[in-house]
Amino acid sequence: MNGMAEEDAGAEAANSDAAAARSPWHKGAALLHGTPLLARASLSSPFAGSGPLGSRASVKSPFAAATPKVAKLAASSSSRAGPSGRAAHYTGRMTIYVLVVALVSATGGMLFGFDIGIVGGVEAMASFQAEFFPEIYPRSIAGQKDSDPYCKYHDTRLQLFSAIMFLSGAVIAVPAGYAARSFGRKASMLGSGCFFLLGAGLQAGAHSLTQLIIGRCVLGFGVGTAACVVPVYISEVAPYASRGGLAYLFQVATTTGILAAQLVNYGNQYIPVWGWRLSLGLAAMPACVLCLGGLVLPESPSYLLEQGRWAEGKAVLQMLRGTDEVDAEYADICDAARASARVSALDSWRNLVARHNLPMTIMSTSLAALQQLTGINAIIFYAPIMFDSFTVSSAALLNAVIIGGVNVVGTFVGLALVDKWGRRPLLLEGGIQMLLSQVATGIILGSAHGTATSLDTGTAAAALVCICIFVAGFSWSWGPIVWVLGAEVQTLDTRTSGMSAVVFANYLLSFVIGQAFLSMLCSMRYYAFIFFAGWNLFMTVFVFALLPETKAMPLEDTAYACLFARHPVWKRVMGKAGKQVLEREAFRAAAWRQAQGTEGGDLRDLAKYYEALGL
Ligand code: BGC
Repeated sequence: MNGMAEEDAGAEAANSDAAAARSPWHKGAALLHGTPLLARASLSSPFAGSGPLGSRASVKSPFAAATPKVAKLAASSSSRAGPSGRAAHYTGRMTIYVLVVALVSATGGMLFGFDIGIVGGVEAMASFQAEFFPEIYPRSIAGQKDSDPYCKYHDTRLQLFSAIMFLSGAVIAVPAGYAARSFGRKASMLGSGCFFLLGAGLQAGAHSLTQLIIGRCVLGFGVGTAACVVPVYISEVAPYASRGGLAYLFQVATTTGILAAQLVNYGNQYIPVWGWRLSLGLAAMPACVLCLGGLVLPESPSYLLEQGRWAEGKAVLQMLRGTDEVDAEYADICDAARASARVSALDSWRNLVARHNLPMTIMSTSLAALQQLTGINAIIFYAPIMFDSFTVSSAALLNAVIIGGVNVVGTFVGLALVDKWGRRPLLLEGGIQMLLSQVATGIILGSAHGTATSLDTGTAAAALVCICIFVAGFSWSWGPIVWVLGAEVQTLDTRTSGMSAVVFANYLLSFVIGQAFLSMLCSMRYYAFIFFAGWNLFMTVFVFALLPETKAMPLEDTAYACLFARHPVWKRVMGKAGKQVLEREAFRAAAWRQAQGTEGGDLRDLAKYYEALGL
């Protein structure tokens, strides 16, 4: 398929533009992005002078006088399928092929999960401690009586081993976004798989803490690259109505990876001396699947069209949708691709903070950062060593498996609900559930550890239940939705840079929490859980006040911008740019309805405008 692309690119591009000129659908859409059609006609778009998308003014728009009508149209044009309702004309539905493509690419998420889930259990293994952390080892085998459970594992280098992967993941996020944009989603997935293979090898063969940490950094490069590219890739191959569900796959894969790691640790704890090497090295298996995926999966249609590989892009889209009738969606992707192709990588970053994008950027990055302040990775990284510290039983790794199991099941619950209930209700419910369970965990630990040095079985079970309720709340809400939103709210020109910003924010905070939590636990004791509860309260209010519902929107569209442009707070931030977004959308909607023959009236002006353009 690759081969045919470049040869016919030129011809196809010409055809595509010609087709665009013939199709009223394309005309309306072309107006939005100020495509070459308009540039060649050397006339301005009706949106000329209206900001980043339409600044080639030279002839006054015939619509200037129609603005009040347009404003009315804009105000009334919201629908479930987006402001213009065009997504209702997307014919392709969910196919087995899309599902397989998404599943294979989601192994990137599985590796992410595996590398998060594996550390806590490995750190709790005596053979690992004896080899790399000889200061902790005596404390760990001394039993509960001799050590303060809150400080038993407090060690900066141990925390560094857990957390450093996220720092290198954050560092790679910007180049990874650039690579996904320039070299394609497939090549980036392949690169990510190679980093995972190398990192797993370095860790499994480590003979010094330095090698272990270098291996963890290399894994971080793989994790960061996968997190930038896989959710974007999945949302680009997914049909719009199932996009939330498919993008959830990344999280399903992540939680499955965490559980797999916890099971692996549970089994390997019985292998003396080299059990930890097996745990760390097993990441190589899904890494091979990701590398294979990078070689055989189809490239994303959005990327292909952005590169001007029109025929190939359309063929892939038809294959993914299981039908040849993909015109409406193809037209939207073409428009977005043309607009995006005119934007340099640097401009893609600049556009992230331009007024018309700012609310989406602020929301997606702050939700990503706040996700870590739920305290999830304090639990996922450190549950095994916390249970090892607080209980006398040897069930620490089993408890981790239970927590991991709840995480997977909860993610499936979210999968069933995300496109039905939407993102907002799940985030709000999840936030409240996490808040209450963190408070309960703090109270249980506080009351038990006022006097005793280890929890009795009943209290340990109660703490485990609270932690499971917390993880369940996270798993159907903040866990997946942050990644779903990150991949969907940006337009094609800012999508990879937007995702890089999301990954950067999330990983930086993961690093901070991973590096700080054991110190926090040692100094703040059970108040550490109350600290996270406070953040959960803040996050819930934040979502309530600022996040509009984004479910079931067409991806290559300005539907998201329109949502934010109507939001009482964000419309102030967007200012004039927000009004222009709504006006443009109204014109597109009008062009489409006219093309459908369902509306006349104002739109005769639009026809005149096309006449003036000679289309
Ligand atoms: C988060 C990870 C977390 C995982 C737990 C992901 O969404 O980004 O940091 O460990 O969920 O399931």
